[in-house]
Amino acid sequence: MTFELPAVEDTEAFGRSLGRSLRVGDVVLLSGPLGAGKTAMTRGIAAGLGVPGRVSSPTFAIARVHGAGPGGVGLVHVDAYRLGGDLAQLDDLDLDADLERSAVVVEWGEGTAERLSDDYLVVRIDRRDDDVRVVALEPHGAWAARLAELQLAG
Ligand SMILES: Nc1ncnc2c1ncn2[C@@H]1O[C@H](COP(=O)(O)OP(=O)(O)O)[C@@H](O)[C@H]1O
Ligand SMILES: [Mg+2]
Repeated sequence: MTFELPAVEDTEAFGRSLGRSLRVGDVVLLSGPLGAGKTAMTRGIAAGLGVPGRVSSPTFAIARVHGAGPGGVGLVHVDAYRLGGDLAQLDDLDLDADLERSAVVVEWGEGTAERLSDDYLVVRIDRRDDDVRVVALEPHGAWAARLAELQLAG
């Protein structure tokens, strides 16, 4: 399943429709090179969940916790870039506890955050030469069935 997202607004809109479908305990991994649009998509996911607070690239912190939105689902936004694959630091974040009230979105999480759940969605963002972002969704576990029900923009 792939989607073409020409502008940053399209990436945010895609994130919004994904965010609207997220539940407590969901794990979403965003992959793609620097500047691909992972943070932009997280901004959309936050809007879809209706959680408070600004989404940005965490410069000093590795994770930012956003309290629950109107749907009762919070958002934990992790940028694992600085972890450099150091799994111990990820354990220190105690994301298991966060997952009881939030969805967790991890930038650069592949190879690390899979350990959070058997059920997770990988959102692969590629930047084409013409700057259009091409998004491929890779469901794991229960996400295969969930994805079939999703109405995503893009
Ligand atoms: N279609 C698009 N989708 C997402 N970002 C885009 C798109 N076109 C241009 N951009 C720009 O690319 C940059 C993406 O940055 P960011 O979301 O921080 O990337 P990442 O978190 O993957 O490093 C932003 O400056 C954004 O305005
Ligand atoms: Mg980022």
